[in-house]
Amino acid sequence: MATAGKVIKCRAVIAWEPNAPLMMEEIEVAPPQEGEIRIKIVATCMCHTDLFHLLEAKDKRGFPTVLGHEGAGVVESVGPGVTDFKPGDKVIPLAATQCGECRFCKSPKANLCDRNWINKYVDFMSYPTTRFTCRGQPILQFMGTSTFSEYTVTNQIAVAKIHDDAPLDRVCLLGCGIATGYGAAVNTAGVTPGSVCAVFGLGAVGLAAVMGCKNAGASRIFAVDINEKKFEKAKIFGATDFLNPKAYNKPISEVLAEMTNGGVDFSLECVGNTEVMRSALESCVKGWGVSVMVGYTDADFSAKPIQLISGKTWKGSLLGGYKVKDAIPKLVQDYMAGKIKLDEFITHKMDLEEINDTVKLMKTGQCIRCILNISK
Ligand code: APR
Ligand code: ZN
Ligand code: ZN
Repeated sequence: MATAGKVIKCRAVIAWEPNAPLMMEEIEVAPPQEGEIRIKIVATCMCHTDLFHLLEAKDKRGFPTVLGHEGAGVVESVGPGVTDFKPGDKVIPLAATQCGECRFCKSPKANLCDRNWINKYVDFMSYPTTRFTCRGQPILQFMGTSTFSEYTVTNQIAVAKIHDDAPLDRVCLLGCGIATGYGAAVNTAGVTPGSVCAVFGLGAVGLAAVMGCKNAGASRIFAVDINEKKFEKAKIFGATDFLNPKAYNKPISEVLAEMTNGGVDFSLECVGNTEVMRSALESCVKGWGVSVMVGYTDADFSAKPIQLISGKTWKGSLLGGYKVKDAIPKLVQDYMAGKIKLDEFITHKMDLEEINDTVKLMKTGQCIRCILNISK
């Protein structure tokens, strides 16, 4: 392409500081270096991790930054040493990595690649290096991706090449939240046919977990949320029973135990609240129940040891346990083959300029996912 090897000037949304409105700016995007890929982003959406960083980041070293880690686009140019990608390829930039060479990539048991930014830079959520500048000032790349920009540069170990016919304004959803919830059910929990499941929290992550339970063959799926408006969507994804913990004068684990003859086979916490994590564990049946923590919080949690001594398993899952470069293209194909739903997660569509409206919708819980169109 005519732009290869040159600095590209383009529009991007910058978070200059915590808890301030996002600003549309012109930025310069440097050409990709060794092992890197420059991507023209076509569509993106906001995830709660972007929102959390914007509203509650404690470490100001994470600013100024271009947020965004759920996106999809087309390769504009590649740096030296990149052999698996070429200009024009459709891709999903990834907030996680798969280098293929480290101890964790080589093990079938884990998806926690040692080269992931999260290992060293989780406090300020960005790599120290960036290819972005604005008025001469370096702008950080959030989670190594920064999809709220017309162009971004990422390392090839954090990019998934997807099918040429994939609709980018829908498969962009697979970059984080939906893969996280779906994989937590099918991979981490290992939901089995005929089992009884409970999903706590029915945002995008929880709805994707419900879909995972359904596709894994669960016979009964309890959808648990304090906001009953979420139940209608949960039904679309396969939930069979609906519980609002606030509607009972006893713990929801007791309610579930009564309704299931002793507790569910699998529970998934998709809220990010330690009380709910505990409750999800307590809702499992003794002997073989498995509970998976999916929602993120940095608070400490506690539980009575008898919960685990009695034979339950408590697990956690990051990005659905998926080895991302291998798995995300397959999920794209599953969507194209009608095996997984994506359109049903989309409650709003806007242009990138309207991103501050997305922030408002996400804050008030009115939005599951809002697709932001960047370029046609
Ligand atoms: N019990 C049950 N449900 C609850 C509770 C509770 N005590 N508190 C909140 N919820 C529900 C909310 O009503 C909402 O429907 O949990 C849901 C959370 O949804 P979202 O806020 O839309 O979050 P989502 O994007 O799905 O992410 C969930 O996963 O990746 C992490 O950081 C992310 O921790 C977050 C979690
Ligand atoms: Zn690795
Ligand atoms: Zn995310």
